[in-house]
Amino acid sequence: MSRKKIIAGNWKMNQTPSQAVALVNQLKPLVENQDVDVVFCVPAIDIIPVVEACKGSNIQVGAENMYFEEKGAYTGEISAEMLVDAGVQYVIIGHSERREYFAETDETVNKKVLQAFAHGITPIICCGESLTQREQGITIDWIRQQIKIAFLQVTAEQAAKAVIAYEPIWAIGTGKVATTEQAQEVCKAIRDCIAEIYDEQTAAAIRIQYGGSVSAASAPELFAQEDIDGGLVGGASLKPDFGKIVNYNK
Ligand code: PGA
Repeated sequence: MSRKKIIAGNWKMNQTPSQAVALVNQLKPLVENQDVDVVFCVPAIDIIPVVEACKGSNIQVGAENMYFEEKGAYTGEISAEMLVDAGVQYVIIGHSERREYFAETDETVNKKVLQAFAHGITPIICCGESLTQREQGITIDWIRQQIKIAFLQVTAEQAAKAVIAYEPIWAIGTGKVATTEQAQEVCKAIRDCIAEIYDEQTAAAIRIQYGGSVSAASAPELFAQEDIDGGLVGGASLKPDFGKIVNYNK
């Protein structure tokens, strides 16, 4: 089975609404590539103007977070229904920065994944080990645990449509990209874990990204690995270089 690559930018807490529109207009002609799905995951306040600015292009829009409750007294939170109404198709769930600074746990990640699917939004589910965990040789065990909890109660049909982003924490924003062997090894372990939870067909369908200091230079080799179906890109997604990453196969 051939999986369509998916290359997503994670803007994090960057770009005001007007800066966001200017950046989309700058990147739009650079990120044309019919072979891959291109997603811009942007701050909540940028979603509406970015959706508007992306109309007529190949860019799909994602959020960087959402809440798992349907609606109500949750001051400051944003619901899945709001995201759908605004034109969002993807949502990053459980990024390591949200786990570290905003107390996200595997349990809240699972609730958010279920809520995203309930509203037809594709979750980009993040997992990844710290440097200590890698040095202690527990990377695969740790990732398998994150995946198993994230997918509790998720049906095989839903899982097949999910995106998983493997992002070693020590490689995020550090310029320290994992070697292709390290990235492929963990992405394969994730696919094997999905096969164990569901079946081979689901494992073959699910898309697994690598994230962590992806650059125009490292993208071609990373994305050529059997189990790496694209990337989640932070810093480089705010620059014209993102066009080169999206067109890694040209
Ligand atoms: P980076 O961020 O590409 O700047 O390392 C990746 C991410 O956090 O998704």
